[in-house]
Amino acid sequence: MDPLRRIVIICSPERLQPFENPVTFWLDLKPCIPYISRFQIKPNVKYLESDTLADLFDKCTKFTRARELQAQGWYPYFKAIQSGADCEVEIDGKKLVMVGSNNYLGLTQDPRIKKAAQDAIEDFGSGCTGSRFLNGTLSLHERLEERLAEFMNAEAALVFSTGFQTNLGTLATIAGKDDIIFADRNNHASIVDGNRLSFARIVKFKHNNMRDLERLLAASKQDAGKLIVVDGVFSMEGNLIDLPNIVKVARKFGTRVMVDDAHSVGVFGANGRGTAEHFGLEDEVDLTMGTFSKSFASLGGFITGSENVIHYIKHHARALIFSASIPPANAASVIAALDIIEKEPERREKLWRNVRKMKKGFDELGFDTCGSQSPVIPIVIGEDTDTFVFWKKLFESGVFANPAVAPAVPTGSALIRTSYMATHTDQELDFVLGVFEKLGKELGLI
Ligand SMILES: Cc1ncc(COP(=O)(O)O)c(C=O)c1O
Repeated sequence: MDPLRRIVIICSPERLQPFENPVTFWLDLKPCIPYISRFQIKPNVKYLESDTLADLFDKCTKFTRARELQAQGWYPYFKAIQSGADCEVEIDGKKLVMVGSNNYLGLTQDPRIKKAAQDAIEDFGSGCTGSRFLNGTLSLHERLEERLAEFMNAEAALVFSTGFQTNLGTLATIAGKDDIIFADRNNHASIVDGNRLSFARIVKFKHNNMRDLERLLAASKQDAGKLIVVDGVFSMEGNLIDLPNIVKVARKFGTRVMVDDAHSVGVFGANGRGTAEHFGLEDEVDLTMGTFSKSFASLGGFITGSENVIHYIKHHARALIFSASIPPANAASVIAALDIIEKEPERREKLWRNVRKMKKGFDELGFDTCGSQSPVIPIVIGEDTDTFVFWKKLFESGVFANPAVAPAVPTGSALIRTSYMATHTDQELDFVLGVFEKLGKELGLI
């Protein structure tokens, strides 16, 4: 027995229970013996040498890409910022203009929001130590949900601890094994994972391609419950979903619609209610998801919809019921942000003015901005390596932006994702355009 590390027993199908086939016992035969005698198995025993063993952690040793980039000096991830999130940030003791955040309305440093967070800590303490379902619901959470429902013009709203969890919890709850989810191929990872958790059949349609969606819906089982789920604004490409046609197709096939408005709430629509308001289709969307980590300058997420659907999600979503609620400071800061968004539409106007300036600037310089329609303006570079080089040169020149390479974007379409804030000054934006122009010429992109 000494050289043995494990033994695999392959038993006949009628002997399968109570374990799956094949059964692996580690280290020695001892644990097998009760089973062998109890089920009178005549085992076909394979002896495996220790050096044939698979180690679960092998993949960690084999993962070298990040270390290679670090050694070459191109590694762009997990950069520690030594100042608060704002138009200008400090990294490694150096100032950079930030065009790589989701801080669209520039509210992270607003004194009214900071004060609301501080007051909430004074009144309620630092955390809730439990889930909404049991001990983690504060009157503050209820007030926030009422305010959100009112702001979004919806019957009800439910707050989760992150935007990611909102998608996981909602999708895994609202669709089940007899249902079909039709999902845009470029949807955010949290939608992809929520779909997987739902056990529904997932049918992916080509990005923003309504003909493909209609073809797939026409070929699907008529009696299944159906949901179309899409991003309102796609976070890398910065383009909008073709919501008018999504709604038309959904009506034709009796399908529910859910829109992830993480990048749209506070940004799109006359009142900042997102994609559906922008297109005048608020009555046609069944569920709208939003996050507090972008325009709301905090952390958490929410879903809005009809009262009975939100009530159902509230009592079934595992991501809500088995996870602690957002801390008082976050809830209070989102309420303060809602007040500001309602009272100061000029912030959104300033944001769009900045966005138009940058889109026009990049287009005139000859960059490929990938059909952006939002404050997210990507600059297509192409190959991953060229993108890392471009990113590094931007960084050294005082501009913080984000590289997006495969699999976040299709291979060969790597890009630098830039995004804009209401609080960026003309001086900052001109500086960014100047750096892009210089580097774009230097690297032969324009
Ligand atoms: C489209 C989209 N949905 C959901 C999320 C998840 O939101 P959060 O970061 O608040 O968890 C993000 C965040 O990047 C996103 O871009």
